[in-house]
Amino acid sequence: MINNVNYLSQTASKLTPYAAGIQPKDTGWIKLNTNENPYPTSPKVRETVKNADFGRLKLYPDTEGGVLRGAIAKAMGVKEENVFCGNGSDEVLALAFQAFYSGKSNVLMPDISYGFYPVWSEMYGVGAKLIPTGSGFEIDPDDYKGGRGVVLANPNAPSGLVLGLREIEGIVRNNPGGVVLIDEAYMDFANVENAVGLTKKYENLLVVRTFSKAYSLAGLRVGFAAGNAALIDGLNRVKNAFNSYPLGLLPQLGAAAAIGDAAYWDKTRKKIIDTRERTAKQLRELGFELKDSQANFLFAAPPKGISGRAAYEYLLKNKILVRHWEKPRINGRLRVTVGTENEMEAFIECVKQMLNG
Ligand SMILES: Cc1ncc(COP(=O)(O)O)c(C=O)c1O
Repeated sequence: MINNVNYLSQTASKLTPYAAGIQPKDTGWIKLNTNENPYPTSPKVRETVKNADFGRLKLYPDTEGGVLRGAIAKAMGVKEENVFCGNGSDEVLALAFQAFYSGKSNVLMPDISYGFYPVWSEMYGVGAKLIPTGSGFEIDPDDYKGGRGVVLANPNAPSGLVLGLREIEGIVRNNPGGVVLIDEAYMDFANVENAVGLTKKYENLLVVRTFSKAYSLAGLRVGFAAGNAALIDGLNRVKNAFNSYPLGLLPQLGAAAAIGDAAYWDKTRKKIIDTRERTAKQLRELGFELKDSQANFLFAAPPKGISGRAAYEYLLKNKILVRHWEKPRINGRLRVTVGTENEMEAFIECVKQMLNG
């Protein structure tokens, strides 16, 4: 409000935007708050971007993202026509909400999940029906039937809990009247098969993935969706009504190089899984209650007598950033991204100090 004039549209006035985790400007932090990968991305990315033809930067990038879509299609075992790329999976998800759910009601999603889903629901007029998760945040596939759409993060965030492929297939079959969107941002850290293969069998299944986590490219902003060509066409319709060139040349080339280096991806994701398991065991030994996370983070409740907020603040004072939400049901917990071995040792040391203090 300036000079008594409200310049905002009604939509913007009413919105509650998503609050991303802090990105500190100064150094010296152990940053375990935004589920980034603690390891550098594949050396092939640097090599590819360095050797890119900078003369091409004067031109708009390939609007179809052909090179990248080809690399993704090859890695995921689908055809190029079944892949859509965007500026981070957040953009792909936002476009999917517009393309498939805007103006519809009975779009099913869990009450505890990725905090952006309610924001897009509000922004794009989606009638979301929030399905309560169980007391341990578990998702019961039988609760997801007859929707005009379904949105599920698998593994879910912030719980880290995962559904198996058969359960996902059941949900797809039970919701033939809408698009079932499975957000697999964290799937590379899970012990179950991803749902990309199922997109060949079910025309209403869209799987969304990101380069920000297992490929360690959060700063490049690349995400993608895999699905039936008709769904990809739907995404392109809304994309081309918003921004024809969401992905620059360098992100396209860099992400293609990353997904082409499967050996590096496999090595780093396994290191993170090992560290996750070791840290989970240590936290349990220290009296924390933890979900069985299949993602690159842990969702942990401190022992009795220590609130989630107090634990968050103790860590913050010691320059360790984790995530805490002042929201019902989850305010007693911390979401802790799995860092390097050394970072997690420092984190555990700090937790011990807190418990002894
Ligand atoms: C469940 C989930 N989906 C999607 C994203 C978005 O990732 P990006 O936009 O970096 O691809 C995140 C980010 O943390 C996430 O937690």
